[in-house]
Amino acid sequence: MASEVTPVIIVHGGAGDIAEGREGAVYPGIQEAAREGYKILQDGTALDAVERAVCCLEDNPQFNAGYGSKLNAAGELEMDAIVMEGKSLKSGAVSCVRDIKNPIKLARTVLEKTEHDFLIGKGLEAFIDEHGLTRTPPSELISERAINLLESMKGTDYLSEVKREVRKQTEHDTVGAVALDRFGNIACGTSTGGLTGQRVGRVGDSPLIGCGAYCDNAVGGVSTTGIGEAIMRIAMAARIILYMEHGMTGEAAAKKALEMMKERTGYKSGAIVLGADGQPSPVFTTSGLPWASVKNGRISYGVRKGDILDGGSM
Ligand code: GLY
Repeated sequence: MASEVTPVIIVHGGAGDIAEGREGAVYPGIQEAAREGYKILQDGTALDAVERAVCCLEDNPQFNAGYGSKLNAAGELEMDAIVMEGKSLKSGAVSCVRDIKNPIKLARTVLEKTEHDFLIGKGLEAFIDEHGLTRTPPSELISERAINLLESMKGTDYLSEVKREVRKQTEHDTVGAVALDRFGNIACGTSTGGLTGQRVGRVGDSPLIGCGAYCDNAVGGVSTTGIGEAIMRIAMAARIILYMEHGMTGEAAAKKALEMMKERTGYKSGAIVLGADGQPSPVFTTSGLPWASVKNGRISYGVRKGDILDGGSM
């Protein structure tokens, strides 16, 4: 009988310039997500673990996904999510979601209940109703922090302000998870509220396969974070997996892709990578990326370059 694989999970809470003192706000949530996902890995699948970890982050208003998502120029929610499994290479993705508490669950329903990989608009609305999924009034998903962020742009031209923010790269965006289960299956997922003040109808990288996430059981899995336009321009998640396929470690592959992105687009960014060998790596060129991983029952976490803090055992 084939020996079992050691389960591993890594999660992130978005690359950006994490303000001094914000560590205290993000550390508990990021560790909780990793722990909750890891618990599932004791008996369950990588897909279940990724869904659970991302749900934890979507439910936490400190992170830009689900409850706490950033607001567009019209003060509305437009959330995007993707989930993918590395055995079948099938994904499920959704975009411009306004009234679903956990977009990652909706993405998983698309993965499992349709022959398609991405649903939007009227068709997605009909799909939600067809499957009797619970709708939550958007007012219950809008956090004070998201309102304040949009308020801080009031009186300015939102779209130029977005451009300025994007250039400064202070956005603390997006959540994601990658897991390897004891059956050797890898799954990954990414969920986001996008950018504060973004143009209505703007879709970022997160729900796009090969940009916001990618995984292949034979190689590894990736969830990316940063300014979506730049991530799309280099197809970042697929690029990292391809570099790994050609022999690089997850860490080296992500560093190469992030350096290439900086050089070609001028933007900084971040990614979490999990190799098929079970090696988790958080990699970022921004000044911060909240992340946490659990392997052999021990939790590691950090937010700034060089951090590998010990979160104790499960
Ligand atoms: N990375 C998330 C976004 O740009 O929408």
